Amino acid sequence: MSHVSAIKKMSDIKQILEQALEAINNANDLHMVEHARVNYLGKKGILTEKLKQLGKLSIEDRPRAGQEINQAKTKLLDAIAGKKQKIEKKQFSEKISSEQIDISLPGKGQTPGNIHPITQTLFEIQEIFSTNGFEIADGPEIEDNYHNFEALNIPEDHPARAMHDTFYFDADRLLRTHTSNVQIRYMKENAPPIAIIAPGKVFRCDSDMTHTPMFHQIEGFLIDKNVTFADLKGVLNSFLNKYFNRELQVRFRPSYFPFTEPSAEVDIMGDAGWMEILGCGMVHPNVLKNVGINSDEYSGFAFGLGVERMAMLKYGIDDIRLFFENDIRFLKQF
Ligand code: FA5
Repeated sequence: MSHVSAIKKMSDIKQILEQALEAINNANDLHMVEHARVNYLGKKGILTEKLKQLGKLSIEDRPRAGQEINQAKTKLLDAIAGKKQKIEKKQFSEKISSEQIDISLPGKGQTPGNIHPITQTLFEIQEIFSTNGFEIADGPEIEDNYHNFEALNIPEDHPARAMHDTFYFDADRLLRTHTSNVQIRYMKENAPPIAIIAPGKVFRCDSDMTHTPMFHQIEGFLIDKNVTFADLKGVLNSFLNKYFNRELQVRFRPSYFPFTEPSAEVDIMGDAGWMEILGCGMVHPNVLKNVGINSDEYSGFAFGLGVERMAMLKYGIDDIRLFFENDIRFLKQF
């Protein structure tokens, strides 16, 4: 190759370098930088091709041309690295400013959960009776015929059994239909004087606006000497006044329970008319006998209160099922 054409080769390279630098300079994202790199320095890149052609040059031109190409390559690589850095820096600061957090903004409002209205009602009722000297007792939800019925003066063929809509597991095991089973279990273990409340779940095959298959009762019973129906009325009236904290229309309506005599039911006037909230009465002598308490010496009263009904009356809720659908919009109001 002549000297002239070797010179031309070199000016070629200068031109290529200028074009390449311009391409890199004009690139405004990493993709374009990479494109320029491949175009000039890739396997089939323009500058790579020039290197491959070195062999065609004369021995004396080769070192200079080689040096020239290598210098161009280094310059290009530097330019590429510089440009990449610049773009990355720019992208980073754009990202930071777009993701900026304003720590002075108010939070998203993680409202704390609240206690279920029925549990709240249970707590409130327990609190009132506790301050009046009643202790809290507990009993099993899975019960036998004896404690749920027989000992409560409801023998097998008694029509009252049919009224209870019982869920049976087998001939002798059932889901308790009321908290009155605790009367028997407690009085068998403890001698009078007794003043107990027993809150808990009870179960009946029953469902409509005022009945659910599972609901809560609070059993109350007090056994001592000379306890009268007037004591029962006094305790219940004072409790109801405290719980509702307003003028109430309350009525004691004569009723029948095999385990109390006399018996009554208590209704309260709500928005939808009278609503029955509890059954009560003087503990039947047969029940006292069944638990080994002398009914000549002791007497007592008992009551069984529907907890959902109390909450319905307090909050003006006309459908008991709302408590168990667990719609957060409903529950949040309490
Ligand atoms: C009883 O369960 C008696 N053990 C109460 C009792 C205890 C009487 C001690 C005398 C002495 P009753 O079946 O009426 O009685 O239920 C008592 C209360 O539970 C009712 O007044 C009512 O408020 C509530 N209740 C009854 N069935 C349901 C139901 N399916 N869903 C919601 N509440 C109910």
